[in-house]
Amino acid sequence: MQAKERIIFPLDLPSFEEANRYVRLLSDHVGMFKIGLELFIRSGPGIIRTVASEGGAGVFLDLKLHDIPETVYRTVSVIADLGVTFTTVHCGESVKSLLAAVKGGGGKVHILGVTILTSVSPEDLHQSGYAKPFCSDLSGLVLKKAVMAKHAGCDGVVCSGLEVKMIKEHFGKSFIAVTPGIRPSWDGIKPDDQSRVVTPTQAIQDGADYVVIGRPIRDAGNPAEAARRIIGEIEEALSRMDA
Ligand code: C5P
Repeated sequence: MQAKERIIFPLDLPSFEEANRYVRLLSDHVGMFKIGLELFIRSGPGIIRTVASEGGAGVFLDLKLHDIPETVYRTVSVIADLGVTFTTVHCGESVKSLLAAVKGGGGKVHILGVTILTSVSPEDLHQSGYAKPFCSDLSGLVLKKAVMAKHAGCDGVVCSGLEVKMIKEHFGKSFIAVTPGIRPSWDGIKPDDQSRVVTPTQAIQDGADYVVIGRPIRDAGNPAEAARRIIGEIEEALSRMDA
């Protein structure tokens, strides 16, 4: 897979018009556009067709479902007919909803389990009642969630770049790892609300298949140029890995 194809740009934008502007600006520089709740709720499912035809890239419908199995099954059955490449379900607390998602997808959409959001810190987990060993070592919890996803037949997981190596070691190359929380080193590492961040180079070197990169591209003076710089960084990392 080429460097460009590994970049997922989230369309975290306030309007259909703005999203469309970024799609046109970045269609040659990213492999996939991610539609999240904000844009989906504002624009409806029609946005998927627009992004797919304007962008010439894949579409990732990131609704991060977290509900009872029957509701997840019914929802993913609908998503399966929208023609998107990836969709997400929280690994959550029970494998049953993940199984329902896989069944609902019927092989027509890749299902990714969201392990632990990259904005979550050990302190957050402690406050929400998780046992101490999982708060001090988040990777143990990410692994447990990934085991659930794998067991349910998901195609892969969303995890931070800090955990991607462990995921690949445990589940092998074909289990897809998508990593948000990416900050290029030249961006001065502004974490924003992300807690567990790594550079594109580190994520790719550790085995990430895809990197989700939003604000470092969206908020750059020249977003296309920022994306090109990231492609260059990923190309370098890939060529070092081939050598
Ligand atoms: O690069 P930036 O921090 O702007 O990326 C934000 C995007 O990453 C959002 O669209 C958010 O939904 C996504 N994200 C994700 N999974 C996480 C954390 C963030 O898909 N665990």
